[in-house]
Amino acid sequence: MKKQFAALILALVPAFGFAAGGGVHLDKVDIDLTDKVALQDGLKTFANYCMGCHSAQYQRYERVATDLGIPEEVMLDNIVFSDAKIGDHMKIGMKPDDAKGWFGAAPPDLTLVARVRGNDWLYSYMRSFYEDPTRPYGVNNTVFPNVGMPHVLAPLQGRQVLPSKLPEGESVACKQVQVVEDGRKQFDPLTGTPITHEDCSVMTVVAGTGELSEAEYDEKIKNLVTFLAYSANPVKLESQRIGTYVLLFLAFFFVFAYLLKREYWKDVH
Ligand code: HEC
Repeated sequence: MKKQFAALILALVPAFGFAAGGGVHLDKVDIDLTDKVALQDGLKTFANYCMGCHSAQYQRYERVATDLGIPEEVMLDNIVFSDAKIGDHMKIGMKPDDAKGWFGAAPPDLTLVARVRGNDWLYSYMRSFYEDPTRPYGVNNTVFPNVGMPHVLAPLQGRQVLPSKLPEGESVACKQVQVVEDGRKQFDPLTGTPITHEDCSVMTVVAGTGELSEAEYDEKIKNLVTFLAYSANPVKLESQRIGTYVLLFLAFFFVFAYLLKREYWKDVH
């Protein structure tokens, strides 16, 4: 018994280490699984930019269309790029062995990735690619160092760089970061404006190089994470929907129960 217990603890340790993300700072994201517009936008990004390499093979197109309120023809015309049918699983044509040769690692299936990595990790990861000419695809990632995946959303985000790591001869303005002392953000006591300093070790996007502004890009990624969180737990959406009906039913039922109780006790008093 003791041995089994020790084995269990040992088995859990790497899981905790993994969840902590190896100590990198993660940005928090607040997602809303009932936001259909966000879910649909996330699905669109996933189909357009991720499904070239990643599958979501535990998910069927039909189920996603139903859950996200997308008509079947719209789904087939805009989301299903292969000759897959609406009832098929969201698989892809790329073979893991080929992918390993191209990227050094096979792109994993992403159906459950939100449960494995967590929403904050995904949100941070997709916003943490930066230019690094020493890497095969010219990019690195602060959340997943030396990742094999290229920055496929670079046309949307633009060139994100670490000013302190730019090649010689190129310079980009460093980011202004708010000064923090004793864990508190500092403000000018007279004007109330934040006190900032230049920090060249913080990633910054070169202005005008991407299709989206920084805020728009963050929103895009938030929607993508919302879709991946739904994909990892589609039942959650369903339970929320059913939960609403249950509460409505209870509220409705209460009125009748109350009236019935009044009727029964009428003659007792
Ligand atoms: C050109 C191929 C390619 C495309 C397109 C691509 N990826 Fe990847 N992705 C990879 C590879 C290869 C890896 C494995 C990297 C490694 O292990 O070093 C990976 C890894 C990941 C991981 C880490 C998984 C884990 O838990 O280790 C996530 C998350 C991810 N990709 C998300 C995405 C998303 C979201 C998109 C679409 C916006 C996308 N990828 C598009 C190739 C791709």
